[in-house]
Amino acid sequence: MKKAAAAALLAGGALLPGLASQAQENAAAPCTTEKGWDGVCLRQAYAGPIASWPLPQVPTGITPAELAPVSAIAVPPVSPKIVALGQRLFADPRLSRSNAVACISCHHPAHSFADNKRNSIGHEGRPGQRNTPGLLGVGQLKSLFWDGRAASLEVQALGPLGHTDEMAMDVPALAAKLAALDDYNKQFDAAFGQAGGVTLARILNALAGYQRTLLPPATRFDAFMEGERTVLNDRELLGLHLFRTKARCMTCHSGALLTDQQFHNLGLSFYGRKKHEDLGRYLVTGEAQDVGKFRTPSLRGVARSGPWMHNGLFPQLAGVLNLYNAGMSRPLPRNAEQAADPKFPVTSPLLQRLQLTRDEITALKSFLEVL
Ligand code: HEC
Ligand code: HEC
Repeated sequence: MKKAAAAALLAGGALLPGLASQAQENAAAPCTTEKGWDGVCLRQAYAGPIASWPLPQVPTGITPAELAPVSAIAVPPVSPKIVALGQRLFADPRLSRSNAVACISCHHPAHSFADNKRNSIGHEGRPGQRNTPGLLGVGQLKSLFWDGRAASLEVQALGPLGHTDEMAMDVPALAAKLAALDDYNKQFDAAFGQAGGVTLARILNALAGYQRTLLPPATRFDAFMEGERTVLNDRELLGLHLFRTKARCMTCHSGALLTDQQFHNLGLSFYGRKKHEDLGRYLVTGEAQDVGKFRTPSLRGVARSGPWMHNGLFPQLAGVLNLYNAGMSRPLPRNAEQAADPKFPVTSPLLQRLQLTRDEITALKSFLEVL
């Protein structure tokens, strides 16, 4: 599919017609036999245009954006000079107090711009509270951080720069520090096409500009979406089908980045347990109903960004899938006090037991590995 066509798909055809609940009944039946999945039937079901594919199986009232290739993502143009400057800053540990922690220390390209640690490790080896998210496609996100507390990449960067567990920098002193290093003053003027040297606003602008270019690399999933319907093997294709249908993943993981950008509670907030408790979205909104909700992450490059979830609780993707299969965890109040607590978190009603077989979980995992 050409760029324009893909963009049109996103703009116009992104919302599926309100047939979701009907699809729920239809989708379970096709392509299964007594012996299991009928691979030939599945190939046929996905041979035609995307609009003819089996509809996503999602709860009534949810209208997920259709999955789409990377080429459908419209990137606002950023000056290449600013991008190059941003890339240099992103990798420069001298942005931190100790001169030892760069953005790239935690957001590494080999891990989809995440790291491979359960919780991030920052200034003087201090562990952070949360798992580092990957940054592929981050320029498309409407809110940043697991709890959505930053509205732009420019504002977001102030978080890690100043945080005592991350780069621990005295942020107001950062511009002067950089101005005295290498040729930074000159490079800032060249990149922004104006005198003024290093300023905090320019640092944030360059970091954000660079990150807006971090699109997911096109994978076989993208080739498949663009019409090359033989590039996924049988297992991956079954994984895609399950993702859309029986496993109900598109309820929340939809669109080109496979996220609805909404906040959901998956039952992982450890409410009331001092050490691991994370109230998530509640920390931003103060609304009781938001306790334990986290933003649905993009699944682009997800196989390389583990451990997974906001708290890095899962070292294996199979573990994530097994818990989804069980309908996720639904912590119950442990005493009368918790039972009466309006803040006691409720696991999303959008989740349910899935009854996936072991082979189906393997197929789903193979599909996630293609993204
Ligand atoms: C010590 C490790 C560490 C360093 C250093 C670090 N980050 Fe992060 N980054 C994280 C963690 C952990 C989160 C999630 C925190 C949260 O949600 O509360 C995060 C979140 C983000 C997000 C939001 C992504 C999303 O999906 O919402 C962006 C963007 C980001 N970091 C960019 C940067 C930039 C730019 C720098 C350098 C100025 C940087 N990070 C330095 C660990 C780090
Ligand atoms: C109700 C919405 C919802 C549904 C349905 C859902 N997810 Fe998620 N998913 C989320 C949210 C929210 C998170 C982050 C939760 C957290 O960290 O506490 C997440 C996290 C993940 C992660 C970890 C990503 C990372 O970077 O750490 C994977 C993998 C994942 N989901 C895959 C799936 C698959 C596969 C399915 C279908 C079986 C699915 N999800 C169904 C909302 C959902």
